[in-house]
Amino acid sequence: MKPILVTGATGTTGSATLQYLKVRGANVRAMTRDKARAADFEARGIPAVVADFGDPVSLAKALEGVEKAFLAHPPSPEIPQHEKAFIDAAKKAGLKKIVKVSVIGASPEGALHLARWHAEVEAYLKRSGIAYTILRPHSFLQNLMASVPTIQEQGAIYSDNGDAKIPLIDARDIGAVAAAALTETGHDDKVYHLTGPAAVSFQEVAKAIGREIGKELQYIDVPDEAARQSMMGAGYPEWLADDLVTLNQWGRQVGVQQPTADVAIVLGRPAHSVLDFARDYAGAFMEEVAS
Ligand SMILES: NC(=O)c1ccc[n+]([C@@H]2O[C@H](COP(=O)([O-])OP(=O)(O)OC[C@H]3O[C@@H](n4cnc5c(N)ncnc54)[C@H](OP(=O)(O)O)[C@@H]3O)[C@@H](O)[C@H]2O)c1
Repeated sequence: MKPILVTGATGTTGSATLQYLKVRGANVRAMTRDKARAADFEARGIPAVVADFGDPVSLAKALEGVEKAFLAHPPSPEIPQHEKAFIDAAKKAGLKKIVKVSVIGASPEGALHLARWHAEVEAYLKRSGIAYTILRPHSFLQNLMASVPTIQEQGAIYSDNGDAKIPLIDARDIGAVAAAALTETGHDDKVYHLTGPAAVSFQEVAKAIGREIGKELQYIDVPDEAARQSMMGAGYPEWLADDLVTLNQWGRQVGVQQPTADVAIVLGRPAHSVLDFARDYAGAFMEEVAS
């Protein structure tokens, strides 16, 4: 069994994919830019390789002997250049399959930078001749970890979502779907739209997390500009803060965004709910709260 390369293996979707591939008994190879983290994978019995999307020589080495790959890149303007370079290297290495993480609403005409950048790569991958599965997830529940400081200090989650109801997805389900697409037949040349099982408001999210960590949490709605400034203060680049504000404006206008059934169809079980997430991540919220 030839290895499956997992890029972004230390990140949110990559680590989940790695975990679910291991459960399926797949032969994996984790990719990271960091030698120490590669050594850490190896110490845990996971073969690892050090490579950078910006370094074609390292990519060629990472892809040696590989048959399939999971492709995830952090949200950045380098997505088109880096992911296309990866697809080129994969083609040279004779890869048979790539599972790519994109974004819900990916489109060349999308209002968000991320929608346009991912759409560009989706089109390139489709033209590459390599079999693909494209995963278009909705916003991750794991993004809530960014609210740990205000949960800790003020018992509050701040955002500009208003009363919008959003089918937030647990990133573990993205990993589970990716692992299925990399190890089962029937997923080639498909695009999956991945959401949680139900649309939830941020008020409901705050209540669910609060109940699990034994602390009453408030959702505090803030104006778009305050949200934008706060994101930039937390180190988000301006384009990303703008994208998120645009997304939340749209979400408030739409009101309730409907979930899709793709996670349940692929996995044969429901997607994780916000209640599941709150229960399973309570420790992480509390550890951080205690630190
Ligand atoms: N967050 C959301 O709500 C959301 C919603 C829909 C779609 N998405 C999309 O999901 C995708 C994947 O996100 P994610 O959260 O899984 O990513 P992530 O955790 O931010 O990053 C993945 C990993 O990429 C590695 N990396 C960074 N630069 C690299 C480079 N130059 N070469 C090789 N590896 C590099 C890093 O690992 P090392 O430091 O170990 O190298 C990092 O841990 C994004 O493209 C985003 O647009 C996100």
